[in-house]
Amino acid sequence: MSNKITAAITAVGGYVPEDKLTNFDLEKIVDTNDEWIRTRTGVEERRILKGAGMATSDMVVPAVRQLCEKRGIHPEEIDCLIVGTVTPDHVFPATANIACDKLGAKNAWGFDLSAACSGFLYSLTIGASLIESGRYKKVVVCGADKMSAIIDYTDRATCIIFGDGAGAVLLEPNEEGLGIQDSILKSDGSGCQFLHMKAGGSKQPASTESVLAKEHFVYQEGQAVFKFAVKGMADVSAELLERNNLTGDDISWLVPHQANLRIIDATANRMGLPKEKVMINIQRYGNTTAATLPLCLWDWESKLKKGDNIVLAAFGGGFTWGATLVKWAMTASDVSEV
Ligand code: UT7
Repeated sequence: MSNKITAAITAVGGYVPEDKLTNFDLEKIVDTNDEWIRTRTGVEERRILKGAGMATSDMVVPAVRQLCEKRGIHPEEIDCLIVGTVTPDHVFPATANIACDKLGAKNAWGFDLSAACSGFLYSLTIGASLIESGRYKKVVVCGADKMSAIIDYTDRATCIIFGDGAGAVLLEPNEEGLGIQDSILKSDGSGCQFLHMKAGGSKQPASTESVLAKEHFVYQEGQAVFKFAVKGMADVSAELLERNNLTGDDISWLVPHQANLRIIDATANRMGLPKEKVMINIQRYGNTTAATLPLCLWDWESKLKKGDNIVLAAFGGGFTWGATLVKWAMTASDVSEV
């Protein structure tokens, strides 16, 4: 028997802001309607982080604090915090550094990872590698985005989709072979043209002109992204099953990125999974970018059983996409409500 160390998810935390922005609220702001948004995307409402100076780290902190409380550890025990985000508090320093300070995670190092909607999946693979190496015992992987900071609420093509939130998991060494099993991650930078933020980076620093031209907001060619997303997420999920000699019957849950219900359905169909095995909370939170996957785990945690095979799949800006196979390590009784 091998003594290979695997990285198990041993706690889940989440945070969504109180304030809701419903489809009916949006009807008053842009030329849209509840029926169009629900049938074309699946979204009914999203959460918005309000308050001057409130930033992505202010959602990371409660999510990680909850995770620590559930696991019964102090933030000082965290070795490393990775935050997948495209809406960091600042260009620098990293949101992870700021969050560690606010949490009192004095012994942790950390960094932000930019992979848009695949940010959590990319971060999970890196976090798992840190555990598997044997060097670190407690790595927190977080997906968090304050999308409302980069959305133009006069653009009906984007403002109807996105919302704010944060989710986090704790990774710890496991000797029963549970946890992160396999991962296929992909990227294609030629997709940048279809989904990006034009200004605010080194290519086009902020200027009066860039602000007036509304270039500090998400630019998305929805139809083009949709086509790549359907193919990318379905292909990679099917490939992951195949290379692990699994079929849909072996999978307990699909945890898909919550960008559009139609993309989720296409991925589930391709994997041969009935709807009952698919985590869907897009109707309540919209697309929270890097936070969608951990927020699903947060919502479904009490239904997950030790040994369940779970596939996490995402597609996002970059383009970036991928799928990860996880063998769940906790039983519902391990999960204490905080
Ligand atoms: O998470 C990161 C990755 N992102 C994604 O995966 C997003 C992928 N894309 C999508 O989810 C979809 O493309 C959108 C939800 C963004 C848009 O849906 P669509 O079905 O592709 O709409 P469309 O852009 O093709 O527009 C269809 C029609 C157009 O009207 P005509 O030309 O057919 O008369 C639009 O003008 O719907 C109109 N439309 C709207 N109508 C009401 C576009 N946006 C809206 C709106 N409300 N908000």
